[in-house]
Amino acid sequence: MTAHTTRVDVGIVGGGPAGLMTALLLKRRGISAAVIETRTKDTIHHTQRAGILEAATVSMLVDAEVGSRVLTEGHEHEGTVLSFDGEQHRIDFQALVGRSVWLYPQNEVFFDLANAWEREGGEIHWAVTDTQVHGIETTSPRISFTDAHAQARSIEADLIIGTDGSRSMCRRLIPEEVRTDHFISYPFAWFGILCEAPPTAPELIYANSELGFALISQRNETVQRMYFQCDPDTDPDSWSEDAIFDHIQQVLGTEGGVQLKRGPIIDKTVLPFRSYVCDPLSHGRLALAGDAGHTVPPTGAKGLNLAFADVRVLIPCVEEFITELRADAPGHEGEAAETPESLRRYSRTALDRVWKAQNFSYWATNLLHRQPDENPFTHRRRRGEFDAITGSVHGQAYFADSYTGWSD
Ligand code: PHB
Repeated sequence: MTAHTTRVDVGIVGGGPAGLMTALLLKRRGISAAVIETRTKDTIHHTQRAGILEAATVSMLVDAEVGSRVLTEGHEHEGTVLSFDGEQHRIDFQALVGRSVWLYPQNEVFFDLANAWEREGGEIHWAVTDTQVHGIETTSPRISFTDAHAQARSIEADLIIGTDGSRSMCRRLIPEEVRTDHFISYPFAWFGILCEAPPTAPELIYANSELGFALISQRNETVQRMYFQCDPDTDPDSWSEDAIFDHIQQVLGTEGGVQLKRGPIIDKTVLPFRSYVCDPLSHGRLALAGDAGHTVPPTGAKGLNLAFADVRVLIPCVEEFITELRADAPGHEGEAAETPESLRRYSRTALDRVWKAQNFSYWATNLLHRQPDENPFTHRRRRGEFDAITGSVHGQAYFADSYTGWSD
């Protein structure tokens, strides 16, 4: 069977939030894009992900005119609570750095973007198989795949953008001799639940105790999201509802602390923890964005925000590259291609922020989690660190500035 071929400026591998936001913003600048994704739209929409958006992320959604659900259904949070051995301290983001964050689940961000792209007639293929990317070191890179109707297809482009998530196949196309994989793993994971209950508190609570970490997050008036630290090999079914809520309550403190609102648990998952950075984020006619290029542990709520920060840097660089290409005399098909300077600049600029976010996520993870080999010194020392953050306006401002996403 001959492959059905389309031709666009930019081929995008991965239809999650990073890929879709890239496609929409390129289109706004007169640059055509086509997107492929291995999962179905429904699967992504119903996969639970983190829920905190920085103000800059919200602005991108509003500016990209994908609908204002984030403003009508999302909730602005002007601060968050840090709890240590049952003692709570509020970090007032607005008072400290003049910015808020928004609680709006990533899977809804995805849904809004996917609907906008489809509404505008953007090319997208869900549930594709056999994806291959060809010729990223040439002037004519191409994506081949089989679509959901078993039709062989090919997308020819001037540039490929890999937004194919933390198990990225695009990333592996950057030759090993030019790529450094920076990676660490952690000796714990998060046990995440969704439960049918009203919110326990008006803002998120990040808690540490001798039992380890817990996070009380929210979804809406009737469904809540919570997490607690667990062993990476934990079987989610080995914990009963009562055991889960009793454990989280103990991390929050049982005397005078916050009283957890309980309700039927409708989803349980164990989330692995790792920190990863791919350097560089561009090679030849390929650029990576979002989780394909870097993964952070969820403690700092940086994953999607960092992906959108990549996109903010990437779009003008791609525009510069495509404009130069259009001004040049057409080259020959398949000619060897160097990495354009605009894409090298994308990688350098994006990585500076990625490393800042890696540092914050790593630091917040260590501040709030219990290590398996922990002794009383470690817990007491952590209390000192916690007091240094919550007990001074400078420490609080460090947390607030990082959590809300710095000023761009
Ligand atoms: C969530 O609501 O799922 C969430 C919030 C904050 C985090 C991580 C996850 O740091």
